[in-house]
This record gives sequence, structure tokens and C-alpha cells, in this order.
Amino acid sequence: MIRNSQWDLGISFVGCGSAMPHKVITNDQLGQRVDTNDEWIKSRTGIGERRVIGENESLIELATEAAFDAIKMADWDVKTIDLIILATSTPEDLFGSAPKIQSNLGASNAVAFDLTAACSGFLFALVTASQYLGSGAMKRAVVIGADQLSKWVDWDDRKTCVLFGDGAGAVAIESSENESGLVGYDLKSDGSKGGCLNLSQSNIFLDLVQGVTHQKGEYLPIQMEGKEVYKFAVKEVPIILGELLDKYQINSECIDWLLLHQANQRILDAVASRFSIPSEKVLSNLRHYGNTSAATIPLMLDEAVRDQRIKSGDLIACSGFGAGLSWGAALFYWHGPH
Ligand code: UT7
Repeated sequence: MIRNSQWDLGISFVGCGSAMPHKVITNDQLGQRVDTNDEWIKSRTGIGERRVIGENESLIELATEAAFDAIKMADWDVKTIDLIILATSTPEDLFGSAPKIQSNLGASNAVAFDLTAACSGFLFALVTASQYLGSGAMKRAVVIGADQLSKWVDWDDRKTCVLFGDGAGAVAIESSENESGLVGYDLKSDGSKGGCLNLSQSNIFLDLVQGVTHQKGEYLPIQMEGKEVYKFAVKEVPIILGELLDKYQINSECIDWLLLHQANQRILDAVASRFSIPSEKVLSNLRHYGNTSAATIPLMLDEAVRDQRIKSGDLIACSGFGAGLSWGAALFYWHGPH
């Protein structure tokens, strides 16, 4: 089923931003730690290097910087922001990191909360924010995707450690009576396949008092059945995008940019070829950042807007996918600042 995005108001994309950690880890450096090499990683994934948050950096700082850049591009007074959603699976505080970002920004009139949907998180958060704006309940929102998977990767597991990196990206969106940037979207979940990709709690129980134990708050490193997730992505992403294009009667030739979650270059290429989208229209920065989970889509968007590949009025076909399993797609026009 495709959800209807016929609201009273349209959604306009008016700003974007991103922020990356300084420390770069190359494939060759990883090869010094685990049995891997640059050739394998590049040919199987397209990844050349990734960034890792170091001692003098933090996820909240990066997310704040990305949000600040998006707000600056939109040319908003921070006091006019109504909503901040932080899509993350790696908050600094399990009670929520978004309020700290709200405070850092001085956005004192905004309500701020975290949303978790792994690598689909940004898209889920974007659609969530859109409901508030489209209904007229709120006017301006900042949607952030930020993750620090380096905290949860097993750096001795070559099957996963070569894939992930840290980073943050953000967009500024507002309701609009004249323009409708967000054409349509769809979101999906399949918890029955959730075991393919997990960052799950450890099942350690400790004695509390006589006859009562309590569970220790602790998580296991990321575990992934890469092949299963790969098959899921190359099957489901074309389906969900194809249904959206059909619903809105948009020919794939009209897509200016294919903006997918940056997990693997082979996934990007496979999806593009299903729609006969030429490689020049496929956005990819895997080479530099790897898979930054909820951050990949806004990070890539920001890069392509700032180097002027994406121009005002361009149509973007976007899809996120990952743990849950969860996936989603959206068609939107980039507007840019007024
Ligand atoms: O963001 C969440 C979404 N995540 C994804 O979309 C990830 C989707 N999955 C993938 O991108 C791919 O499945 C991977 C990149 C994770 C793995 O690529 P693959 O082509 O599916 O490789 P594989 O797991 O089938 O492994 C092939 C071989 C194996 O060796 P044998 O059994 O053929 O001897 C692995 O042990 O490659 C070996 N291998 C490695 N070799 C060198 C696995 N990882 C590495 C490595 N370096 N890092």
C-alpha cells in the first residue's frame, strides 16, 4: 500500500548541512588489523575510507553542526523552528540526544526527539516531520541523520568492520502553500527478517536481591548476514521506488538524481540499472565515507547541493534500507533557499 501524501500544505526542502569527524581510516589501515585488503573492499563495496569520531569530537557536536549548516542555508531564525528529529541508532543518551542539539542550537521553541530506524532512520524521520508540517500543525523542521557505528562495530570482524563509518547530515524543511517538494513516499518494515542485522542487547543477568535478578544494560557488537541484507536491498528497493513512480505517473527518465542509502556501490548500480538510470545520475560518496547509517542520505544530499550538482527544481528519487528490516522511499524536488 502506498500512503497518501495529499496534505493541506506542501513540504519545501530549503536547507541542508553535514559534518564529519576528522579522523580518516583507510582500507590499508584496516588491513593492518584484520585479514582484508583495499582491493577486496573497493571491488565488493566501493568503499575506500571512512571517518571515525575521535576523543575530542562527539556525535551531538557533529549533529549540531550539520543542523546549524542546514538552518544557515535556509536563512532561518532558530527561534522559528518548531521541530527537530534526530534519526540515530547510536545516541549519546538512550533517553534521547535531540534535546541537547535543540539546546546547542538555541532553538528554544522547537520540540526535539530521537527516532530509531537504523539506516532507514533519516527517511522515516523525514516522513514523520512531514506529517506535522503537511497538516499545518507545525511550520519548520530540522531532520538530522547521525550515527556513530564505530562504537558498536567489532573491529576484529572483517565482514562488518570495513563497511561502516561515522557522520551527520541534516535538512531544513518547511510547509508551503505554493510548492510541494515532497511528491510522495512509502515506508515498510519486516521484523521477521530482523535477525539479519542487529545491534542487540546482551542477555546478561545479575543478582539484584535474594531470588531476583536484573538485566545488565549492555549491547553486543553489530552482527550482519551481509548476503541476506544485500538480496533484500536489491529486491525491495526497486519495488518500492517503482510503485512510487507508478503512483505519481513519473517516468524514470524524469529522475534527476538517484539518492540511495550508501551501503554498497553494487547495490546502487543494481537499483540504477533496474530503472535504466545512467551512472552520472547516481549519487555516491561511499568511497570517502562508507556506510554512515542514518547519515548517508542527508550527507550525500548536502555534498551534491553544495558542489552544485543538485540544482533547484531537481527531482530526487530517494530510498533508505537496513536493519529492522526496514526500508522506504521518497520522491522529492530540491528547492533550496528562497
Ligand atoms: O546499511 C545496512 C545495509 N547493509 C547492507 O546493505 C550490506 C549488504 N551486504 C553487502 O554489502 C555485502 O554482502 C558485503 C559487502 C557485506 C559482503 O560482500 P559479499 O560479496 O556478499 O561477500 P561474502 O560475504 O559472500 O564473502 C565472500 C568472501 C568470503 O570468503 P569465502 O567464504 O568465499 O572464502 C568472506 O570470508 O569474502 C570474504 N570476506 C572478506 N575478504 C576480505 C568477507 N569480508 C572480507 C573482507 N576482506 N573484509
